[in-house]
Amino acid sequence: MAPPEDSVANPPPEAEEAAAAGEANTKPISTILIVMAMHTEAAPLVSKFKLVEDPDRSMFPKGVPWVRYRGKYKDLDINLVWPGKDPNFGVDSVGTVSASLVTYASIQAFNPDLVIDAGTAGGFRAKGASVGDVYLASAVAFHDRRIPIPVFDLYGIGAKQTFSCPNILKELNLKVGNLSTGDSLDMSPHDETAILANEATLKDMEGAAVAYVADLLSVPAIFVKAVTDIVDGEKPTAEEFLQNLVLVTAALDQAVTQVVDFISGKCISDL
Ligand SMILES: *[C@@H]1O[C@H](CO)[C@@H](O)[C@H](O)[C@H]1NC(C)=O
Repeated sequence: MAPPEDSVANPPPEAEEAAAAGEANTKPISTILIVMAMHTEAAPLVSKFKLVEDPDRSMFPKGVPWVRYRGKYKDLDINLVWPGKDPNFGVDSVGTVSASLVTYASIQAFNPDLVIDAGTAGGFRAKGASVGDVYLASAVAFHDRRIPIPVFDLYGIGAKQTFSCPNILKELNLKVGNLSTGDSLDMSPHDETAILANEATLKDMEGAAVAYVADLLSVPAIFVKAVTDIVDGEKPTAEEFLQNLVLVTAALDQAVTQVVDFISGKCISDL
């Protein structure tokens, strides 16, 4: 027996939503947003994908230093954004505040099917990380938002599983580990305790913030992070980070290229 006519014409809103989400997951990915924190990390990918800086800045508020590079690579519209140089200090606008803002504005403006947060990170030798390793983060959390009040504590940590992409992992030679995010490059004893509690292999300054925004706006996000320095090693982090940045960026960019090549022609549900 056919269903009564008006139940077909007016499906319940939940059914419509689920159908729309299902459709989005099974149509080829067309637009991606790559978020990067530092110009040194972004420059090789900009040339690899033959992206150009968009002279039209009208999608961002007037006066912000955020930079969008765009281009077509295979069948993908690629938007690569970085928050630019701090207007007062002239250095890369690293950290969670800038990353959140530029991710928010870019998702609003470009409506991507997928967000890729790509960057460098510190790695823990005790968890198997070495300089030059590239990871896909399985979960993200914050380690410097301590709010010792029930439930606010969990909100502060903000632990999230990332979008699972078993086929990318199967195809590419990436390691898997948890990523812990905070706004400091060094590691205080408090941070160390929280990072251990987060069971993190990696420590960065943007990931969990990008995850928060992507989740808020319901866009799947993945996190490709290359290890520039060993947090639990002998060398001072700042020194080791600067020493390895350019070399490790090459590994990062190779991995991001492989991920993008894999994504091309696929649907979200194929990842
Ligand atoms: C990531 O963290 C979860 C808990 O949030 C833990 O169960 C899992 O083992 C961790 N993964 C790795 C690779 O350490």
